[in-house]
Formats: sequence, structure tokens, C-alpha cells
Amino acid sequence: MIACDTLVLCLILQLCSADRRFPANFKFGAATSSYQIEGGWNADGKGESAWDSFVHEHVGDIKNCATGDVAADSYHQWREDVRIAAEMGLQFYRFSISWPRVLPSGFTDKINKAGVRYYSDLIDALLAEGIEPVVTLYHWEMPVKIRDLGGWSNPLIADWFGDYARVIFSLYADRVKTWLTINEAISICDYAFTKGHFAPKIKEPVFAPFLCNKHLLLAHATAYRIFEREFRPKFPGRISLANYELWIRPATINDTELAELGRQHSTGRYAHPIFSKTGGWPPSIEKLMLEYSLRQGYQRSRLPPFSTEEVEFIKGTADFYGMNHYTTSLIRPAKPGEGPGIWDVTGSPELNAILESPPDSKYGVSPILPIVPEGIREQLSWLKKEYGDIDILITENGFSTKDYELNDLERTEFFKEYLEQVLLSIKVDNVSVVGYTAWSLIDNFEWLDGYTTKFGLHEVDFSHPNRTRTPRTSAHFLACVIRNNSLDVPDSCYKHKYLADLATQNGSYVARGVLLLDAILIYISFVFR
Ligand code: NOJ
Repeated sequence: MIACDTLVLCLILQLCSADRRFPANFKFGAATSSYQIEGGWNADGKGESAWDSFVHEHVGDIKNCATGDVAADSYHQWREDVRIAAEMGLQFYRFSISWPRVLPSGFTDKINKAGVRYYSDLIDALLAEGIEPVVTLYHWEMPVKIRDLGGWSNPLIADWFGDYARVIFSLYADRVKTWLTINEAISICDYAFTKGHFAPKIKEPVFAPFLCNKHLLLAHATAYRIFEREFRPKFPGRISLANYELWIRPATINDTELAELGRQHSTGRYAHPIFSKTGGWPPSIEKLMLEYSLRQGYQRSRLPPFSTEEVEFIKGTADFYGMNHYTTSLIRPAKPGEGPGIWDVTGSPELNAILESPPDSKYGVSPILPIVPEGIREQLSWLKKEYGDIDILITENGFSTKDYELNDLERTEFFKEYLEQVLLSIKVDNVSVVGYTAWSLIDNFEWLDGYTTKFGLHEVDFSHPNRTRTPRTSAHFLACVIRNNSLDVPDSCYKHKYLADLATQNGSYVARGVLLLDAILIYISFVFR
């Protein structure tokens, strides 16, 4: 019998050592995206994407004038990616397909054989290592021709995206069993158009985000329906999209209602049409947008309505919930004269609300991503409350650093703390979280930050022609967690394996020196924290 005090302690800690195991069917993976790692921007017949054109035409918008022309060179180094994923024991690898690498014009007039072979070989190599490929169709690589035709503001994009999806399913659905149609709709629609600094570099916060909302959901649903009708009968698989979930807390008790409105504005707009029982826009947002638009002098809501057929067409088009989660914000009403700025970073004019970081937050490099581990648990519970007991796959979660550094103890701590919350969510809150994806397998092109912000479990040497990948401590730690299927891992899992191996294998004085230096730095940081 468990001693009473142990039981009490367990309840206080909510997580006993025996409970630090993940469910047997829980899966661990890591993610990347095509533009951020592949390079080979014009290799072997690839067409141009909106990001290719953006980095070439707006040199200087990206830190150090960086481009994704070569990136981590995964177009050539993909075998290395598979090798390091296997070395970590990853159970799945989430990567994305570059639309114009397969369809250079964006349309089906020409299929690029080299692009087809590239992803086919990657999928085969992963499967040969027992790693499941999890494939995203769209991680922001819009073919320029489609951008020029209006991109997400053109309703025809739903059909064009469907045509692209059909080509990809017909090529790989025999081997790929988990699909994500679109990555982070909120970044594509809200963030890109309200700030105007991402491709396609259009700042139009009035209509564009909301046109994009509707057309993107229709595009997702079109791809889902094609898969359901034409492929699933022969090639079983599951399909969803990866939503970015900013967890929103009220700044004060008086802001509870506003926080709920904020969640509907941020998560609900992209989830309610798909995951709710009724479908369509979240009622509170539909009402708010209509009233606000009329007050502004427009004749109708800036958030375009769905027809009854569209509501039915979109409703239910997901077999699980894909969730990217990084951070938590506080929401409060804007004070008189205070500008709310841009959604979903500083606030929302529609909500007349300000978003702020929780006080005393720790940060990685990114100032917009305060670290709030409990936020992921709160977000998961909210999703269950809103959309029922659906399987949730965490499709991204990660921590940013700046310099070349193999001994990334802060990132390691981040993964430990967030995974502890995921475990609580599964064990205490009974949320069906089925897997966890670390962002990212390797350092990569972090959009406007270029190569200055690093999210990799593996460091990439961007000055080396082979873009050498080296595991960081966090890779070693996650490999331990995967091997044990538990957060109870030996202390050695927090030590830097790569350097330790070097020191023992080669008896290298340099490596021993670096280890010693690391130890001194860790000691100093503990003493002075
Ligand atoms: C989410 C995006 O999907 C990914 O492309 C990006 O690198 C990470 N967030 C980190 O900012």
C-alpha cells in the first residue's frame, strides 16, 4: 500500500514518479518546414515561391540579408536529417512539401519529376528507419503565380489548393498516413496581413485577414474532402491542420469575458468551423465583427459569412486536432487613446484589447514568446471543453537560442517543463494528447530573423558547405525521454553527450576543456541566478 504521506505528496505534486511515464501509444517527433531547411530554391525545375521572391526582392528585411536559398541544404543533405532523426529514436518526423517544387507554376500543368522524387526518397528513407512521415502540404510556400492571382484573398484558391493536394495524395498516400493541410492559419491570415512584413508583404489589416480566413478554411476542407472521397477508401490515413494556439489569460478577474472573446478570435476563428458541433464562425466573433464593421460604415461584416452548404462542407473536416503551441498572453481592455496594435502579438482593434506578456516570464531569444509552461495545459483543457474529447497532436513546441551552443540547458529545461504539463494534461485532466512534436529537428531559416534565432535540437553549421548537423544536449535529453517513454530519466540525460563522447572517445583535451568550461558556466549561472 502506498504510504499516506507519499500519496499526499503525490497529490500536491500532481505527478508521481510512476506517473512520469507517457501512455504506451504516445508518440514523439520533431518538425521542420520546406522553405526553412531545404535550400535548392531553383534546383532541378523547382518553381518560385512567394518566400523566394520576398527574400530576393526585399533584401534587408531579413536579419543579415539572409535568404533560404541554401538554408540547411536539406534538398541535398536529407539523408543526414533521416540519420539524426533515427539516432534520436524519433517515432515520427513532420516535414512540409514545397508546393512549387512539385508543381512549379502552382497548377497541375506540369509536375516536376525531381521534386516528386525528392519527397518520395525522403518518405522511403524515413519508413526504412521506422519513422512515420507526418506531412504538411502548406507551410507558407505559395507559388508566385498564385500569389499574383490574389493568393488567399481569391476564393478560387480553394480549388487550386485542392488540385495540389490531390497530386500530393496520389503520389504519397500509399505511404503517408498522417497529413496536415495548412500550418498556422493565424500566421498566414492575421499576422502576415496585419503587420505586412511576411510574404506576400502586403499590409492590409482591414479585409485581407478575414477573406483569408474564409478561403483558407475552404481550401483546407476541399483537401480533406478529396482525401476522404478519393484516397481514404484505398489508403487509410488521418488528416487535419496545424493551428497556432496562443493561450490567452485574463489580465485581471474583470477581464475573464474578454479573455474568452480573445480565445474565440484567435483559436475559435480557425477551429469552430471545423471542430464544433454547429460549424460556422464562433457566434461571439460573428456578432462582434458584424457590429464593428457596421459601426465603421461598411455595409456588411468584414468577416465574410459562410453559406449553409459551406458550413456543412467545412464542419468535421479533421480526424484529430493539430496544435502548435509556444506561448501565453494576458489580455486587457485598451485604455483611452491606447492603440492595440496587431493581432495576435500586441492586441486587436476589433476587440479593443491589448495583449501583454505575463509578468516575470522567462524568455528564449524571441521577445514575443514568453515561456509559460502551465499555459499549454490550460490551452489543452480549453480545447477539450470547446470541441470535445478529440485526439490532440502537439504539432510544434520549441525554444529559441541565439548563438552557436551545443550545451543548450535552457532548451532542455523548456522541453522538460512543457512535457511535465502535457503529462498532467493527459493524466489529471484526461485530455487525449496523442503525441508531441519538438520544433525543430535542426536549426533553420527563422523567417525575418534569418539564421540568428535557432530552434534546433541539432546545431547546423551554416558556414560549412555540408551544413553539418551536431546534436545538442536537448536532442540527447529528448532521445532519453523517448527511449524511456518517461520524464524519469537518468541524470546523464541532462549532460552533453556529444562533448562527453568526444572527450572519452578521442581523449580530446579540447573537448575536456569545453566540458570543464560548461561546468563552470553552469555553476556560475546557478550561483548568480
Ligand atoms: C511556428 C512556425 O510554424 C515555424 O515556421 C516557426 O519557425 C516557429 N513557429 C518558430 O517561430
